Amino acid sequence: MKIDRISEKMNGYDKLVIFYFSGTGNAKQIALWFSELAIKRHIDCQIFDISKTDINKIETSSSDALVVIISPIHGFNYPKITLNFIEHFPKGKNNVVLMNTRAGMKIGRFVTPGLTGIAFMLSSLILKKKGYRIVGQIPFDMPSNWISIHPALNENTVNFIHEENYKRATKHFNRLFSGESDFLAYRDIVQDILISPVSLGYYFAGKYFFAKSFYASINCDNCGLCVKQCPVKAIKIINYRPYWTFKCESCMKCMNSCPKKAIETAHGLLVAISILSSTIITILLNNILKFNIQSGLIRFLLFSIVFLALLWILYRLQHLLLRNKLIGKLIFYTSLTHYKFWGRYKSISDCK
Ligand SMILES: Cc1cc2nc3c(=O)[nH]c(=O)nc-3n(C[C@H](O)[C@H](O)[C@H](O)COP(=O)(O)O)c2cc1C
Ligand code: SF4
Ligand code: SF4
Repeated sequence: MKIDRISEKMNGYDKLVIFYFSGTGNAKQIALWFSELAIKRHIDCQIFDISKTDINKIETSSSDALVVIISPIHGFNYPKITLNFIEHFPKGKNNVVLMNTRAGMKIGRFVTPGLTGIAFMLSSLILKKKGYRIVGQIPFDMPSNWISIHPALNENTVNFIHEENYKRATKHFNRLFSGESDFLAYRDIVQDILISPVSLGYYFAGKYFFAKSFYASINCDNCGLCVKQCPVKAIKIINYRPYWTFKCESCMKCMNSCPKKAIETAHGLLVAISILSSTIITILLNNILKFNIQSGLIRFLLFSIVFLALLWILYRLQHLLLRNKLIGKLIFYTSLTHYKFWGRYKSISDCK
């Protein structure tokens, strides 16, 4: 794969190279809109899926090209797969635009913004050290896909948000291809800096919590599609059932693609583990160690350790017990995702 080296041109580009990662299709949709706009303008365009790219085999070459990297935001940062890709990006001198898709919602005629956190700051630093020139940082507020924590947006809302984002994509495309830089993300810089400690909490603890929130319900027919499609190979088959490992990035692809809608979030189990972890810590500190910890950070770290250890054990137990019809149903009915009103979300079909 070739990426072009020289790109100091400020009054437009002859070539566009887009790298995207996408769980449910939002980032892929923006990438496709950009490529369609490029083709209309007779600009040469290449588009690559980061999850199918061998990070050790990205080569550089020469000619004028604008490089775009686009990925969803997970826990106020790019997901690990995107950060890994950026870290392994070869040195170069191209102009680069960083983009993301965030959690957009609709209030009246407005699309509410999500939060980028440290994604742009961290990635810009890495790329600048490699010699690149950052000419844009653009967030897109596409429909939120975080179906583990909220119900899916309805079809009208999704269509409205897509239309708004298409208009915005066109505006940003025109600006970039007339040679201007585009730092829309600076508008959110204060809240992005304020939220940065949470992004670290998510990276080191939160994402493992969500990785173990998925399970395959009694509706699973073991077709293996989720295992095949996972961009980070996080699902294993154990005892003839899909089993989510800590490698999962919670991109939501599997949950929203399962033909049987059999992938659920175990809300009941997560609430039970949270209560159990708090109780264990309280008993441990007050009754056994007789230790009074004032620091919120240390309490949080302790809670995370106990929580993740319990999660690891109980998730394995849940996996075994799911074979029992009665327990399987109990877990199923305490998963909010199982109820019809919750729904699923997918921006574009996999074949597009
Ligand atoms: C695990 C997870 C964490 C998320 N964290 C954030 C976040 O920190 N800020 C935000 O604005 N959106 C967040 N979202 C929403 C997604 O970034 C958003 O829906 C994105 O457009 C999805 O893009 P995709 O369809 O290309 O995967 C999160 C979604 C998931 C599944
Ligand atoms: S895609 Fe759905 S039905 Fe197929 S194995 Fe995965 S969970 Fe089961
Ligand atoms: S297991 Fe599912 S949610 Fe996790 S990374 Fe793979 S496809 Fe995404």
